[in-house]
Amino acid sequence: MTALLAIDQGTTSTRAIVFDRQGRKRGVSQQELPQSYPQPGWVEHDAQRIWQDTLACVKGALADAKLSARDIAAIGITNQRETTVLWERASGRPIHPAIVWQDRRTSDFCKQHESRSNWLSDKTGLLLDPYFSATKIAWILDQVPGARARAEAGELAFGTIDSWLLWNLSGGKLHATDATNASRTALFNIRTQDWDEELLSFFKVPRALLPEVRDSAADYGSTAPELFGGAIRIGGIAGDQQAATVGQACFSPGMIKSTYGTGCFMVLNTGGDFVRSRNRLLSTVAYRLDGKTTYALEGAIFVAGAAVQWLRDAVQLIRGAAETEALARSITDTQGVYLVPAFTGLGAPYWDPQARGAVLGLTRDSGIAHIVRAALESVCYQTRDLMNAMAQDSIVPTELRVDGGMVVNDWLTQFLSDMLKIPVIRPQTVETTALGAAFLAGLQAGVYQSLEEISALWGVERRFAPGLDAGKADQLYAGWLDAVQRVKCS
Ligand code: G3P
Repeated sequence: MTALLAIDQGTTSTRAIVFDRQGRKRGVSQQELPQSYPQPGWVEHDAQRIWQDTLACVKGALADAKLSARDIAAIGITNQRETTVLWERASGRPIHPAIVWQDRRTSDFCKQHESRSNWLSDKTGLLLDPYFSATKIAWILDQVPGARARAEAGELAFGTIDSWLLWNLSGGKLHATDATNASRTALFNIRTQDWDEELLSFFKVPRALLPEVRDSAADYGSTAPELFGGAIRIGGIAGDQQAATVGQACFSPGMIKSTYGTGCFMVLNTGGDFVRSRNRLLSTVAYRLDGKTTYALEGAIFVAGAAVQWLRDAVQLIRGAAETEALARSITDTQGVYLVPAFTGLGAPYWDPQARGAVLGLTRDSGIAHIVRAALESVCYQTRDLMNAMAQDSIVPTELRVDGGMVVNDWLTQFLSDMLKIPVIRPQTVETTALGAAFLAGLQAGVYQSLEEISALWGVERRFAPGLDAGKADQLYAGWLDAVQRVKCS
């Protein structure tokens, strides 16, 4: 059997999955990742814990598949993007907890320099927002004593989670990243495909900190032999949303997917063109293969599955995500209850880092089912926000491919189709993020010869067609827009 191993390091969990050549799952291991919220709006991860969990998951997945290192043709890495780690090159020790993509601590800086947003967008496709890595790096350099001088002297390394894992997997030999992850730092010029001197000087980030940028399918060396009882080559890296785009086989311009993990990210392939949105969507690198960049438009929503996690952990209205479908079905509507999950501000198309979450429209009759259903509906309303922004950019998708943990919920996926008024397609594998990383590694290792060969492996599991009266959908959505206006700060 030809096997590929994907490491999928997400915001709330770390996983390793072994796939066979057909993209079927052969072994899996997963660990939940603790979140730390040291101040309101701040989110941190323990980078060492991420590495230790990764190590354990790779071993666990190999054991589950009953395979050893020599059976794996290549590893692909995919990861939560933007999350920022700075570590000492000599010891490999992080100098600060990882600052997570959701963290809003640099929102004052972004507000102060708002006038530079267009300039930044023209180079990076992004907006000036705390979401991206650049302001997080600058914050660490300013706050950790001596860090700036050490960075300038070349003693420190910066990486998004892919780089951090690659560094550790290679035994401290390789400091590299791929173009998709680089494109989320706000330091990488996606036109020239290089770190940009003007951006580096604007954010005061020394070039000596930065990793080398390679293609998404490339030679990333091998794992240190002692880690898994033999070296395994590393052949692919992509940010999780870009990996899901590959896993969904969205290889032609106009193809679009939405992934429902911690957040929700809609990615539209725009081919070789860097298309700029007039409606505050992001332009980004979908993948870079053989030196050729494929671009994408992206709508980023910060809270999707995280709303369900909040229902479970913070307010304890449910014991697990699996309960949400029955609760949503137990009522005919929310009776005007809306949940706006702006726990870490609002992403596209609002970009309001100061906004905070709210539950609105409660009456004496409102109960757990109404709030749970409102949380699920909020994910669909936010997707419609993104779809509307795309439509205003003259892009009108005719169907949407979905994936991620949330879409196993049939009620949610049906409501999504109702709200968007287009068919929503669920593929046979909803773990498309990990699958995409495995495909990239497989391309590099010669397991696959072309993207066409990968496309042929993609298949539909279920197609959801819009069923709700269009007027009713519009009326529900109007209530959502009203609710959003009430939580917005800018
Ligand atoms: O940009 C953040 C994104 O990469 C996080 O993805 O899967 O953890 O929601 P996820």
